[in-house]
Amino acid sequence: MKALFVCDEKDLWTYYRNLFASHFTKLEVVFCIHGDEAIEKIGSEESFSLFLIEAGLKNEEPSQIAQNIIDLAGERPIIFVGEKVHISSRIDEQLIEESEVNEILIKPFDIHSFKKIVKAGLDWVRKEEFEQSIIEIDKEELLPMRIRNFYLYNTIPYDAYLELTQTKFAKVLTKDKKYVQAEISNFSKRGVKHLYLFKDDFLKLLEEGMKRILFILKQKNKQTPKILIATQIKGVLLAHQYIQKVGVTKELNLLCKELIETTNIVFRQYGKMKTLLVDFPFNNFDTSEQAVFTAYLCEAMLVGLGWASDTSRKKLGLASILYDSMLTNEDLSKIRSLDDRNLAMFTEQEQEEFRLHPAKAAQMARHFQGYSEVDFIIAQHHERPRGDGFPAKLTSNKLTAHSCAFILATAFTTRLAMSNGEQGNLIKIFREIKTLYNVGNFKEPLNSLQRTLF
Ligand SMILES: [Fe+2]
Repeated sequence: MKALFVCDEKDLWTYYRNLFASHFTKLEVVFCIHGDEAIEKIGSEESFSLFLIEAGLKNEEPSQIAQNIIDLAGERPIIFVGEKVHISSRIDEQLIEESEVNEILIKPFDIHSFKKIVKAGLDWVRKEEFEQSIIEIDKEELLPMRIRNFYLYNTIPYDAYLELTQTKFAKVLTKDKKYVQAEISNFSKRGVKHLYLFKDDFLKLLEEGMKRILFILKQKNKQTPKILIATQIKGVLLAHQYIQKVGVTKELNLLCKELIETTNIVFRQYGKMKTLLVDFPFNNFDTSEQAVFTAYLCEAMLVGLGWASDTSRKKLGLASILYDSMLTNEDLSKIRSLDDRNLAMFTEQEQEEFRLHPAKAAQMARHFQGYSEVDFIIAQHHERPRGDGFPAKLTSNKLTAHSCAFILATAFTTRLAMSNGEQGNLIKIFREIKTLYNVGNFKEPLNSLQRTLF
């Protein structure tokens, strides 16, 4: 935000600048020496939120300057700053009494009043801007983008909206205007999961994001493992939204290929999950973090079992990206089975989505070229050795060794996500899994999982 201060005592500018800088870090103060210069600046620069006028101006009438500002910029808070004698003799009373927002600030300053008055002005502007930004849009024209996508950028070439009601939206990010990461985390803290974009903009932004991720992953030999893992998580975040809204395209194929190849290269630098876990940037435990973590568990098991052929890597790599990709409410990714008590907390529609997500993701996998049997593996990721999983209630003798390894990896990841990644829980989680899965084709991958984790 910017404030414009008309003050003809240049010697005081630094004092004021420091004063504002120490109490209002996000407010930039622009100074000018007389009223004409102020009018010129209002006409040429981006909008000012707040105005300050020195009441003791020597050659001009501060009230007249205020009136000119109101005529040009519309109603904005104007604060008259000066000694009591100047305020009472030179400021038109009407400007204060008839205005909801104009204020006086008497010198010498009491810091408390200074902060209170400036803050009230800024709050008024924020509220006003917010109210002005509210528009009615048919929700059909928009698509929800996960809030975390916005951390990928500091400016986007499209407007983004916050949903207020079914039909009312507030523009919260303006096209090409810089925003700070703190604005996005404020939304997250308030429980906002999505910002909305017009459909075309949504797709362009996803594609643009995917291009950026590809660019970084293609340089995988030059990047550090930590950057690569973080990039994989961002890439999967985009891939999940893309597959839900667009489907499988050449671009998505390319992104998945790079994501899978990166897993192999990064894992080689750690050698064991025990060491990789320390660096893994768990943050939200959402579907994208879980997918990437599952991919590493699979890679670790494949290497440990001596099964790490290109075909196996591609198979489990793609399965890791896709298995929970069709869940639109990512909280569902922390549900383990149809008899999970937490499932009842979701809407009927979401419960149905959970029941169908393995089949839907398997269906998507069939559109990828150059991968074999990924659809079976995905469709089976909620099966359990004793036939009490879903959807097909298969027992361990009906599951291939690759499927068993994949089921173990997803089971471990989901439990880790549910425990918010606390490493002290690793042994507890592993023991629980061992009790459930130490059967048939699960035995070998289970041993391998144990060796790589501890
Ligand atoms: Fe799942």
